[in-house]
Amino acid sequence: MVKEIDWNKMWMEATENASWRKRRGDMTEFWNKRSRKYSESLKHNDRSIQMISKLDIDPESTVLDIGAGPGTLTIPLARIVKHVTVVEPSSGMLACLKENAADEGLSNITCINKKWEDAIPGADLDEYDVAIASYSLAMLDMKAALSKMNMVARRSVYLFTSAGGRAWDYNELWPRLYGEKFRARPDYIYLYNILYGMGIHADVEITDTEYKERFLSMSEAVEQWMDNLGSTTPEAEEVIRSYLSENLVQEDGAFWSKHEMKGAMIHWRTDNGA
Ligand SMILES: C[S@@+](CC[C@H](N)C(=O)[O-])C[C@H]1O[C@@H](n2cnc3c(N)ncnc32)[C@H](O)[C@@H]1O
Repeated sequence: MVKEIDWNKMWMEATENASWRKRRGDMTEFWNKRSRKYSESLKHNDRSIQMISKLDIDPESTVLDIGAGPGTLTIPLARIVKHVTVVEPSSGMLACLKENAADEGLSNITCINKKWEDAIPGADLDEYDVAIASYSLAMLDMKAALSKMNMVARRSVYLFTSAGGRAWDYNELWPRLYGEKFRARPDYIYLYNILYGMGIHADVEITDTEYKERFLSMSEAVEQWMDNLGSTTPEAEEVIRSYLSENLVQEDGAFWSKHEMKGAMIHWRTDNGA
């Protein structure tokens, strides 16, 4: 009965109908523009340590990081494993990742500047002990994306994503600006069910973490939220400013956006020979 539901089709529909995607289309430009700020924000979030502690890795492991961003997991991983290969479509994110690696003198990272969908096994991709994708599951054909991960990972695949709508301020601001409910991207339950349909019975662990974002001034926060919401008008700016003035927390001379978030880690062993 469960197998009869086409979860991949449901994933595609939910992804295509997500508010962000409808307004922006392809996200690579967005991530190019946001890369420096995102890289900076990692200094205030310690989720990578917690995530890496869950992985089945040792000093001899090779790891594939899909949608690595500025190196949230790649950099701490490269310190402790043999090699990390990154597949990342945003050139801005890759520039930050390379700077972060150079700052730490790390030379065991290979970067592939492509979307996961376009990376070809045997040509771009090798085999890796472990494959991970953390908050980067923006692919439309998720079944194809997961099959490719399953194919190139010798030992294990780990997916990190949200559990429940991780929409916070979007839930409040989107209706005020656009007169409709904010529709978040599909979360872990779709992935779990797509895998089930592929005959993969994965483990799921739900975690609680605090997400923190720091703004040096109210103007910086307003500017970023205008961009987050794809807003350009003075009226929208007023709505956003008024909301942020009420909701950002002032601490240590900065403005903070803080949210409790539920994340999900999906893990399965591939049994591809390691
Ligand atoms: C929210 S960031 C996550 C970065 C990092 N993995 C982390 O956990 O902080 C999302 C990243 O996924 C990348 N991404 C988006 N679509 C992708 C795709 N189709 N294939 C590979 N990476 C993708 C983006 O360019 C961006 O760097």
